[in-house]
Amino acid sequence: MGLVLSSLRQVRPPGAKRVIWTRMDQKSCLKAIVVFGFDPVVVPNQLIDNGSVRTDTEALETHILKDGGVDTVVAVVTTSSCFAPREPDKLDEVAKICKKLGVPHVVNNAYGVQCSSTVHLINRACTIGRVDVVVQSTDKNFMVPVGAAVICGPDECTIKNVTASYAGRACSSQVVDLVVTLLSLGELGYRDLLEWREELVPNFKSALSRIAEENG
Ligand SMILES: Cc1ncc(COP(=O)(O)O)c(C=O)c1O
Repeated sequence: MGLVLSSLRQVRPPGAKRVIWTRMDQKSCLKAIVVFGFDPVVVPNQLIDNGSVRTDTEALETHILKDGGVDTVVAVVTTSSCFAPREPDKLDEVAKICKKLGVPHVVNNAYGVQCSSTVHLINRACTIGRVDVVVQSTDKNFMVPVGAAVICGPDECTIKNVTASYAGRACSSQVVDLVVTLLSLGELGYRDLLEWREELVPNFKSALSRIAEENG
C-alpha cells in the first residue's frame, strides 16, 4: 500500500500529501499511510439502522474538497471487505466521485479475490468510475504464509510504475510460495475451491445461527 501511494504521488501536483481514507478499524493500511509520510484524513462512516456502518460518500467528497482541495490529495483509499459491523465500502460510488474530481483511487482488497460479489463490485467500480490500483494479500486469498500482496488495476502503465518504485531486493520466498501453490492448484483447482467456499455458506449460516441461539 505504501509503495502504491508513493508511486501515485509522482503523478500528483507537488506537495500533495493527503490520503483520504474511509475509516476501517484494522491498522495495516493506516500504518502504511503514515510510515510512508502521508497525512491520513480519516472519513467517519455512517451508522445505519440495522447496526452496520457504511461509507459516507458525501463526507468523503467534502473531505477531498476541503483543506487545500483536490490538488493536495494523493489518493482516496477504500476497503472492499472488513470485520462486521463495517460493511464493504461503496466502491462504485467512490469511484464515480474520484473520476469526477480527477483523484486516484486505491482499493484495499485484502480478502476480496476469493469473493465473487467483491470481484463484481470492483469490476463495476472500474467500469463506471476511477480505480487506479487494487491491493490484495496473498495469504488471505491464495493460502500461502503472510507477507506479500498482489496488485492489479485497469491500466498496465500505472501498475508498472508501482513495481518500478520498489528500490530494494526483498526476499523472494513469498513469490516462490505463491507460484508453487498456484502451480499445484492449477486454475481449475483454485476455481473449485472458490465454488466449495460458496457451497459452505448455508452450513456456516445455520451453524452460526445455532451458536447465536444457544448463547442468547
Ligand atoms: C482489511 C485489512 N487490510 C489489510 C490487512 C493487512 O494485510 P497484510 O497482512 O497482507 O499486510 C488486513 C489483515 O491483516 C486486513 O484485515
